[in-house]
Amino acid sequence: MSSKKIEVPNHIAVVMDGNGRWAKQRGLPRTAGHEAGEKVLFELVEAAIKFGVKEMSAYAFSTENWKRSPEEVKFLMGYSRQSLRNRRDRLHDLGVKVQWVGRPQRLWKSVIEELQDAEELTEKNKKFTLNMCVNYGGRAEIIDAAAELARDVKRGKVKADSITEKTFEKYLYSPKMSDVDLFLRSSGEQRTSNFLPWQATYAEFVFMDVLWPDMNPDQLWKAIEEYSERDRRFGKA
Ligand code: IPE
Ligand code: IPE
Ligand code: MG
Repeated sequence: MSSKKIEVPNHIAVVMDGNGRWAKQRGLPRTAGHEAGEKVLFELVEAAIKFGVKEMSAYAFSTENWKRSPEEVKFLMGYSRQSLRNRRDRLHDLGVKVQWVGRPQRLWKSVIEELQDAEELTEKNKKFTLNMCVNYGGRAEIIDAAAELARDVKRGKVKADSITEKTFEKYLYSPKMSDVDLFLRSSGEQRTSNFLPWQATYAEFVFMDVLWPDMNPDQLWKAIEEYSERDRRFGKA
């Protein structure tokens, strides 16, 4: 860590990519990569808290990930359920508020229940927010918000002419989510893959060549240092 004053982002979004390739490099099944990746997420949550980050959004399962083999989808569902159950007490002790961000349709009922249990247990925590993005898709989120807003216009609850960004945000999966400051993707891929398009319009993007299971607190700090060197202008001159 350098002694220079580092600007720590408030909200980091992570696309945890590269689990499959990490496993393949080791001659292991893809599921072993997901297991290794799960440990890294919670290690990085603890590190982020120490660094002074306030919020993290973790892309755990996308609306496009249903296209994977039935075996892998089944593993990911069962494993996220187990992970939430195993991690929630520790997260609670750390003062983490867990928030599910995603679409209920198609998602396993048992996974939704586990997410809701974690939310209930941790709802009063204020130190840090962990948005678990499970069955999340950015376009799905915007479509679902638009549909609900249209229903409210029809019901006469909202006037179409007075819709603002603030109005619209209330219809997103997690209206309290803050704008993303640092959008971090591992594994060398340089794309967003439908993650948080509304919230990340002014995020700084950092792409790292490290596969997700090889990420560690030092790598996270490196990303924060890179973020800190950026000049965020938000359209101003
Ligand atoms: C990310 O790793 C984890 C999920 C999408 C659930 P991948 O499984 O996409 O790993 P690669 O991209 O195949 O290496
Ligand atoms: C993005 O990774 C989704 C998650 C990390 C959950 P993918 O591996 O699914 O994305 P693509 O297919 O490479 O764009
Ligand atoms: Mg991938």
